[in-house]
Amino acid sequence: MQDTIITFRLPKSPISEAFRNMRTNITFSDIDNELQVLAITSTNKSSGKTTILSNYAVALAQSGKRTLLLDCDLRRPKIHKKFELSNNKGLTNILLKEIEVINGIQETEVPNLFVISSGPIPPNPSEILASRRMGELVAELKNNFDYILLDAPPVGMVTDAAVLSSVAEGYILVVAIGNCDRDGVRYSLESLAKVNANVIGIVANKVPINKRSGYYAYYSAYEEDRVLNEKTKKKQLKKEPI
Ligand SMILES: Nc1ncnc2c1ncn2[C@@H]1O[C@H](COP(=O)(O)OP(=O)(O)OP(=O)(O)O)[C@@H](O)[C@H]1O
Ligand SMILES: [Mg+2]
Repeated sequence: MQDTIITFRLPKSPISEAFRNMRTNITFSDIDNELQVLAITSTNKSSGKTTILSNYAVALAQSGKRTLLLDCDLRRPKIHKKFELSNNKGLTNILLKEIEVINGIQETEVPNLFVISSGPIPPNPSEILASRRMGELVAELKNNFDYILLDAPPVGMVTDAAVLSSVAEGYILVVAIGNCDRDGVRYSLESLAKVNANVIGIVANKVPINKRSGYYAYYSAYEEDRVLNEKTKKKQLKKEPI
């Protein structure tokens, strides 16, 4: 598994705590209708979708929920790389009925966490994702997993993310701060609204350190205290008679 899966590598770190908070916030976002199928998308490419979704999936699995990561990015699939799995067979083979669903599900190092990688990249990703077979597959998977997480391409560039609205019960929009403007975010939200997508929240990623606030500010302050304490200790040591 790659080092960017912090929730696995460093489960006690503040970053892992942030993913656990995300889990709590999403659970409370709609208490009456538990959101079982969530999709992640972004305004621009390389915003951190796959990294965030993979960390979130580990946090869910660690809480004892049977979780499935389904790579629906049929243009730049990366989930298998994050978990160092094969991508010989996956979603596209299942949808083409070349393999049984069960044979497309891979185990990961994390108990309760499973992956269906993209499979071979098809020439027509949007049509494949919008197919009736895709709807049937997700319905079948819902009977076997507590949560199904869909990794999708950016919403602004191709229609793939929007066409998943027929199966995704909620969307998370990732915005990489500094890599996108207000109009881009507005356009993404409008594109998702057009297909009645239920956007449950926005994750601000790649936030420059001096713009961080809240928990991170607290953490930095804590870190500062630690550094100051160490400096004071060193001074005290120097003052001590030999
Ligand atoms: N908060 C962060 N701080 C620093 N680097 C990050 C952060 N989040 C993601 N990255 C890095 O940014 C790069 C892109 O991340 P990732 O592949 O998750 O984005 P993506 O939105 O899925 O990209 P794509 O549009 O290709 O699907 C990776 O190298 C990842 O390690
Ligand atoms: Mg990605």
